[in-house]
Amino acid sequence: MRVNSKVLWFLLALVLIAFSSAEARKRKHNRVRVGRHNNPSSSHYNVKHDLKSLSIKHKLKLSKAIVDNAVSASTKTGTTAATNAASLGNAYNTEYYITVHIGTPPQEFRLLIDTGSANLWVPSSKCPSTVKACAAHQRYNSSASSTYKANNTAFQIEYASNTAGGVALDGFLSQDTVAIGDLAIKNQVFAEMTNEPDGTFLTSPFDGMIGLAYASISINGVIPPLYNLISQGLIPEPIFSIYLNRNGTNATNGGELILGGIDPALYSGCLTYVPVSQQGYWQFEMTSATLNDQEFCDNCQAILDVGTSLIVVPNSEIKEINQILGVTNPNATSGAFLVDCATISKLPDIIFTIARKEFALKSTDYILKYGNTCVSGFSTLDGIDFWILGEVFMGAYYTVFDIGYNQIGIATAVH
Ligand SMILES: *[C@@H]1O[C@H](CO)[C@@H](O)[C@H](O)[C@H]1NC(C)=O
Ligand SMILES: *[C@@H]1O[C@H](CO)[C@@H](O)[C@H](O)[C@H]1NC(C)=O
Ligand SMILES: *[C@@H]1O[C@H](CO)[C@@H](O)[C@H](O)[C@H]1NC(C)=O
Ligand SMILES: *[C@@H]1O[C@H](CO)[C@@H](O)[C@H](O)[C@H]1NC(C)=O
Ligand SMILES: *[C@@H]1O[C@H](CO)[C@@H](O)[C@H](O)[C@H]1NC(C)=O
Repeated sequence: MRVNSKVLWFLLALVLIAFSSAEARKRKHNRVRVGRHNNPSSSHYNVKHDLKSLSIKHKLKLSKAIVDNAVSASTKTGTTAATNAASLGNAYNTEYYITVHIGTPPQEFRLLIDTGSANLWVPSSKCPSTVKACAAHQRYNSSASSTYKANNTAFQIEYASNTAGGVALDGFLSQDTVAIGDLAIKNQVFAEMTNEPDGTFLTSPFDGMIGLAYASISINGVIPPLYNLISQGLIPEPIFSIYLNRNGTNATNGGELILGGIDPALYSGCLTYVPVSQQGYWQFEMTSATLNDQEFCDNCQAILDVGTSLIVVPNSEIKEINQILGVTNPNATSGAFLVDCATISKLPDIIFTIARKEFALKSTDYILKYGNTCVSGFSTLDGIDFWILGEVFMGAYYTVFDIGYNQIGIATAVH
């Protein structure tokens, strides 16, 4: 079965190219006292994802029909449930998004969560109706918000993709209250988009994006929501954690984004911590990546990115990995490599060694199955010479992003 190239973008979506990093300035972290991480504070905010899994073939056709359901906050941990859990969704196991409200009275948006970028943007009501991707989504109308403050600085952000060498979006900055469930961030600067490329965003189930990376890669030096959550005292610890459900058959529980805490009920064993090696992406040193006893990484750099669907490997490694997996279209330029579904059970584990601990993915974790089409979880992107551990990895492992101690925690997710 041929995989539609539009779909591929989604699979590989959204690695930020911080092309304006010269402009971006590094900010001091606002430190909030960091308590014991395994001891979730009562004010954790839990957001649950809904899960939708559709066959790749149906994805474009059905994506507009995706309806996310309100879900209650987790009560498993004995933490006080957030009183207002935002609606949240997971589409196709390749896109995870939260519901956010902007302005007064609140205007509702679905935002893709992305740890590979640091800006928040939504389509603008000032976006011309000729821009179909805007017209197809919720648009922020500043005239309808009493807490809006104009900024008007021009804004552009670009995302890497496997097609057409990346996509750019244009708009301008605005400022308003941004609420993630109960957590209302005052004076958050974000971008209103007035131009979005069709192919990429037209059919997306999300309206905009929320970047959760370091401020050093924030375009125009905008202070990211995460930093304001901390400085405005809205979360008890300067951390967030992510649990992704890979259960493709159920719409009620696609995962959680926990702002300010960790939920021990969502992982087993201990968290393994690795220091952030460079504060931009959530980047760290990976000791090795071993598949079929072959090493594909020797103390290489890697990032954890929930905005990337697959595992992106450096160009130099993909050919051999494809050989081991027996991909049926090794010369595909699209970056979506297919495997014969019948071979999945025979494929070896891939073992990532991080901070002296081994994190394995089984073939059932790293092969995405859409009906009778099986897509390899490994791809490559031009110009990316580090590993990107995307949702394929993060589905199997609960991850903690600790901006107070600049470290990443990883543990086996409980499913
Ligand atoms: C924006 O909101 C204002 C005030 O409520 C309203 O008059 C205007 O029609 C809205 N614009 C759009 C494009 O919805
Ligand atoms: C707009 O926002 C940017 C980023 O936060 C800030 O540096 C700039 O001073 C703001 N400009 C105005 C006119 O408010
Ligand atoms: C996932 O699917 C299985 C089998 O259909 C079901 O038993 C389980 O409850 C689902 N889990 C979630 C979290 O939806
Ligand atoms: C999700 O699972 C629940 C309970 O396991 C079930 O009641 C519900 O119908 C499922 N939803 C979908 C969309 O499969
Ligand atoms: C892929 O390209 C190489 C080099 O051009 C060629 O030798 C090989 O036959 C191609 N493989 C397939 C499956 O088309």
